[in-house]
Amino acid sequence: MNIIDNVIKEIEHLDYAIRQKYIPESHYNIKTNLKPLWKLSKDKATLLEQLTIDQNPKTILELGTSSGYSTLHLKKGAPAANIFTIEFDPKKIILAKHHFNKANIKINIIEARVNNALNHWSQPLDLVFMDCDKDYLHYFKQFLPYLNENALIIADNIEKAENFEEYVKKNYEVKMNSGLLSFHANRSS
Ligand SMILES: C[S@@+](CC[C@H](N)C(=O)[O-])C[C@H]1O[C@@H](n2cnc3c(N)ncnc32)[C@H](O)[C@@H]1O
Repeated sequence: MNIIDNVIKEIEHLDYAIRQKYIPESHYNIKTNLKPLWKLSKDKATLLEQLTIDQNPKTILELGTSSGYSTLHLKKGAPAANIFTIEFDPKKIILAKHHFNKANIKINIIEARVNNALNHWSQPLDLVFMDCDKDYLHYFKQFLPYLNENALIIADNIEKAENFEEYVKKNYEVKMNSGLLSFHANRSS
């Protein structure tokens, strides 16, 4: 098992421990709390990693970092990619940074609200993973001008995202696997 897999296992254990209302020894020194991580299930994380491998992106944007669990899978899927991830909860940011340091990987954490970060966006994107509060349609329209040709969009929990599913199904060829929605789009779509 490599170092990223070890950290992934550690987060899975932390998630279990928090549900049982304790902090495991591995996290005694981190200023975390007993709030749920809301991380992807193992199945979804594995699928996210496979979709990332298939896409072979140069630049990835993730909306909603939490502990960094899904970010680590994105990194495994595209080790050379430049990865940006947006998170506004200071405790989650500390936790994610701890995990990225431990895995010895460089991830660009943008400490902001998604809406604000996207208002100042400037990077071309090959893959976007959406897993934050569910204003997905608004966020999608914000990052659409930055998508490279054939960029891949992946979204979790779309049933909570008002009008998003309807809109993308009307305009794109959408796939739904293990609860993750995905489709290809580009800035001229
Ligand atoms: C479902 S969790 C993300 C889980 C993560 N993708 C994983 O699988 O490990 C959602 C995260 O998004 C953050 N979040 C929600 N809405 C946000 C917003 N508008 N701006 C920034 N962060 C947000 C929350 O604080 C939370 O940590």
